[in-house]
Amino acid sequence: MKTFKKLLASALVVGMLAGCSSSEPAGSGSAAPAGDDAKTYNVGVAIYDYNDAFMTLYRNEIESYFAERAGKDGVQYNIKMVDGKNDQGEQGNQIDTFIAQKMDVVILNLAMTSSADTVIQKLVDAGIPVVLINREPKEGDVDEAYPGIVDNPTVCYVGADARQSGTIQGEIIVNLENHGDVNGDGVVNYIMIQGQKENSDAQYRTEYSIKALTDAGIKVNNLYSDPQLGDWKRDLGAQISDNALAQFGNDLEVIFCNNDDMACGAATSIEKYGRKVGEDIYLVGVDAIQDAVDLIAQGKMTGTVLNDHIGQSHTAVDVAIDLLNGKEIKNYYWVDYLPVTE
Ligand code: BGC
Repeated sequence: MKTFKKLLASALVVGMLAGCSSSEPAGSGSAAPAGDDAKTYNVGVAIYDYNDAFMTLYRNEIESYFAERAGKDGVQYNIKMVDGKNDQGEQGNQIDTFIAQKMDVVILNLAMTSSADTVIQKLVDAGIPVVLINREPKEGDVDEAYPGIVDNPTVCYVGADARQSGTIQGEIIVNLENHGDVNGDGVVNYIMIQGQKENSDAQYRTEYSIKALTDAGIKVNNLYSDPQLGDWKRDLGAQISDNALAQFGNDLEVIFCNNDDMACGAATSIEKYGRKVGEDIYLVGVDAIQDAVDLIAQGKMTGTVLNDHIGQSHTAVDVAIDLLNGKEIKNYYWVDYLPVTE
């Protein structure tokens, strides 16, 4: 298991690799704006919800990395970033506006992946290349095969394989001396706080975290029979944990959260109920947002998984720029997850 220091070093390397992956010549690295007569590209960036903690890190990095590339490339990238407010209707209107404004490329974090076809088709018909990010549209269980992506040479997806994050999360528990079985009765009693229902990150993390335990021969028991949807949000993570701790008491041994923001909420609840992470309960998330990393350092969270927003945003920007330059692109680009524990 990587230590946090090692993780930081890896994250830096991933970020640097992403930054260096372009075929452009290395520049000074400054974000100095190009001159007035420099070519200007219009870039639309549609984010599903500005309130999302992880997507806030991601979108800020998109902006700063475009500025960095502008300095190196000697062109101007005119970024128009919009907040879909977690509403596909709102995002659909924003896409219509991007088309009317004749964007040269669009980076798209879908509000609902079930709308992928409609939105992709509109942009393709308007001749605008698309880089889908963070929310992978899926058709069945087949990998790298979404028709809107594979059938359109100017559409691609940049993301991380959520199965990997689930597996790493599960392995953090498997690697504990007691494998998460606090009371030693041979069964790990857990709850799973999930993101949004139709989201493939949420589905895969839910499935693969538990699969890591069962693959290791560990018996598990989900204390809830119904899905507990926390909508990726901290307050809902706290609320679901409050209910579970009140209802199941000491029987609850592990809280799995599909992301860190919900895990931070769960950590508050664990403290409120007088439970102690690492002693009588375990808590894992995904993302490695700063609050979670701090909680891990304080022993209030067991671990998380780095969802590399730097690697992903830099790859998305590099590919968007390749599209602007008429370069051929791949259908899918993947960035690795990494474990984070004390
Ligand atoms: C992140 C979540 C985030 C979601 C948004 C996931 O990959 O782990 O924190 O809420 O993306 O789509």
